[in-house]
Amino acid sequence: MINMFKIGNLSASELREKYGTPLYVYDEVQIKNNISEYVDNFKSDLYKTEIIYASKAFSSLYMYKLVKENNIGVDVVSGGELYGVIKEKIDPTKIHFHGNNKSEAEMDMAIDYKVKNIIVDNFDELKLWAKKAPNIDYELNILLRINVGVSAHTHEYIITAHPDSKFGYYIENEDIFDSIKLIDATNNLNFYGFSTHIGSQIFDMKGFMLTIEKLFELMKKTNREIKHLCLGGGCGVRYTDSDKPLTLKEFSNILIDKVDAEIKKTGIKISELSIEPGRSLVANAGYQLYTINQMKKALNKTYYFIDGGMNDNIRPALYGAIYSVDIANKIDEEKTMEVSIAGKCCESGDVLFKDVKLPKAEAGDMLVVYTTGAYGYSMASNYNRLPRPAVVFVNGSNSKLAIKRETYEDLYKNDLD
Ligand SMILES: Cc1ncc(COP(=O)(O)O)c(C=O)c1O
Repeated sequence: MINMFKIGNLSASELREKYGTPLYVYDEVQIKNNISEYVDNFKSDLYKTEIIYASKAFSSLYMYKLVKENNIGVDVVSGGELYGVIKEKIDPTKIHFHGNNKSEAEMDMAIDYKVKNIIVDNFDELKLWAKKAPNIDYELNILLRINVGVSAHTHEYIITAHPDSKFGYYIENEDIFDSIKLIDATNNLNFYGFSTHIGSQIFDMKGFMLTIEKLFELMKKTNREIKHLCLGGGCGVRYTDSDKPLTLKEFSNILIDKVDAEIKKTGIKISELSIEPGRSLVANAGYQLYTINQMKKALNKTYYFIDGGMNDNIRPALYGAIYSVDIANKIDEEKTMEVSIAGKCCESGDVLFKDVKLPKAEAGDMLVVYTTGAYGYSMASNYNRLPRPAVVFVNGSNSKLAIKRETYEDLYKNDLD
């Protein structure tokens, strides 16, 4: 009987003993497998392909180091993410710099590091790059972020008939062509192609199919060479048994087949195709470990209280995200209780996992939460002045502290009295 949950070869209790809880744990082998599955399958004979990790899903210096070692690219959306990438000396030609409303300081930072691929969100942003162009001493590739009017989420996609998204150029708008003209007229700026991102946690590929068709129609309208197309992220992952995601191989093959088919149908060629997976590269490699300290029987509910909360994983409170959980030291025990797991925060919404089936718990038991590798730590906060947890990477029998647990001192280091 195996009664203790392990990540790699390390048991949850060994990890708690060494690093404490609450704790984020990544299985490095799973991250590498995810990367390989993308790299091996997102391939075509018709153009070069690139996997660009969307680091908003989880960023840390160690994660950027893995990105570099595995020779994939990285998507950053802020000066802070860019700073980490620069610290890890990631090849500037492998960076996609995204974001609406980039500050001039962020733009200058990108130029200093010779970031090669800039995803421009709107005409106003482009004018700023054009203003800076005389001081750019390399050829900077501009990809225009296109709102194709398709918005996809899990099992559904919707065609939004209006140009109202905060992100990108609406596909019907003339400013796309004005922007291409401005890029062409500006030394050191190189019109490179189009970039889209239609949503996240997507299982139904129809939205992608339509998006690819729309991008090819747009390319036809431009009547010129388009070197690069970027299809963004979006591949869904399994949080609970009701989620039935595609494998990364299936996801990759479907996209490649569609792009290849459009090339054959339209005769329009591209030199490069990229995707920017975030969630699907790291989510299933990530776990959270908590200690259950107290239990409470309310009128109709039993609560297990854990030593963290919405501050270290906001997704349940923010948009009702559902996770699978177990008691890590009672993995094989019968799940006789229906309980809700509540955190420490002073918010009634700080109930992370509602009405879940678990074994009867005692103080000191450990809760493991699965699939927390994406948009977990990266969205953590210090609400209630709670320190953010530590992050550990496990590789077989080895573990490595990647982000230290915050101390109370850390929490006040920027305060002045
Ligand atoms: C432009 C862009 N690319 C990639 C991603 C990553 O998406 P996902 O985590 O669903 O793969 C996002 C997520 O917001 C995005 O905005």
